[in-house]
Amino acid sequence: MNLKTPLYSSISFLELFWALSCPSVQVEAQLNVGFYSKSCPSAEQIVKEEVMKGFMSNNSIAPGLVRMHFHDCFVRLIFFSLLSFQGCDGSVLIDSTSSNIAEKDSVVNNPSLQGFNVIDNAKTRLESQCAGVVSYADILAFVARDNIETTRRLAYDVPAGRRNGWVSLASEALQDFPTPTLNFDQHTQNFANKGLTQEEMVTLSESHKIGQSHCTSFNRRLYNFNGTNGPDPTLDPNMT
Ligand code: HEM
Ligand SMILES: *[C@@H]1O[C@H](CO)[C@@H](O)[C@H](O)[C@H]1NC(C)=O
Ligand SMILES: *[C@@H]1O[C@H](CO)[C@@H](O)[C@H](O)[C@H]1NC(C)=O
Repeated sequence: MNLKTPLYSSISFLELFWALSCPSVQVEAQLNVGFYSKSCPSAEQIVKEEVMKGFMSNNSIAPGLVRMHFHDCFVRLIFFSLLSFQGCDGSVLIDSTSSNIAEKDSVVNNPSLQGFNVIDNAKTRLESQCAGVVSYADILAFVARDNIETTRRLAYDVPAGRRNGWVSLASEALQDFPTPTLNFDQHTQNFANKGLTQEEMVTLSESHKIGQSHCTSFNRRLYNFNGTNGPDPTLDPNMT
């Protein structure tokens, strides 16, 4: 998938004018629940149907898609006093080119990130209904919500109106993502760097109640922790 077609439709000239003339430039978009209710009324329904189809075909896809939204949002989530980028910009979907290795091909995403075909299928249907209206960034946000709803029965409204970004660098993904070797304080700091609280870090990490991980992410704590020839003593012994 690539993002060659810009989605200009959601940017009004007035907003553009405001952004250019305002002394403190704010790149963050104004998000609203029901953003597509006039421009593409069945948008959220179409996405939900494609998520359900994906789930029926293979239920391992659901956690992959929740993770995809996180991996989209955490890169380019930048806070300066005058300029901020919200991170959830669809950049995780941009393909690498001969001159750029995109986020998608960073080791944090390739080969572990899964479920891209659900996004492709939803986008194809959305384009046939309302071409050029619904951003990839919003599709990822709706898809994550629908998968949480499908797997955990937790429904929530998703404010929409995100715009697609154009920059996707594997090097940024590598810098920004927490590794499984960090401790609690380091995770807290890592999320704080993105403007997120410790409570938000813990809450978001609950997403790991669904999904799978490759053994390489945690086996060092199970068999020969720190050269002890046993498991990490801080892990629940019933689990190790
Ligand atoms: C707090 C720091 C985090 C770390 C260190 C972390 C690390 C990881 C690792 C190592 C995996 C396994 C990848 C693999 O081997 O395939 C994983 C999977 C996953 N992560 Fe995280 N993660 C973090 C935060 C989050 C957040 C905030 C979310 C979502 C809100 C999330 C959602 C998921 C999901 C759903 C999976 C399962 C993916 C699948 O089954 O395909 N993670 N994470
Ligand atoms: C479902 O997806 C998982 C993870 O991508 C894969 O290991 C498994 O083989 C798939 N199952 C089927 C029935 O295709
Ligand atoms: C690992 O082992 C070293 C040397 O025995 C020790 O100083 C260190 O505290 C251990 N680290 C952890 C996390 O247990």
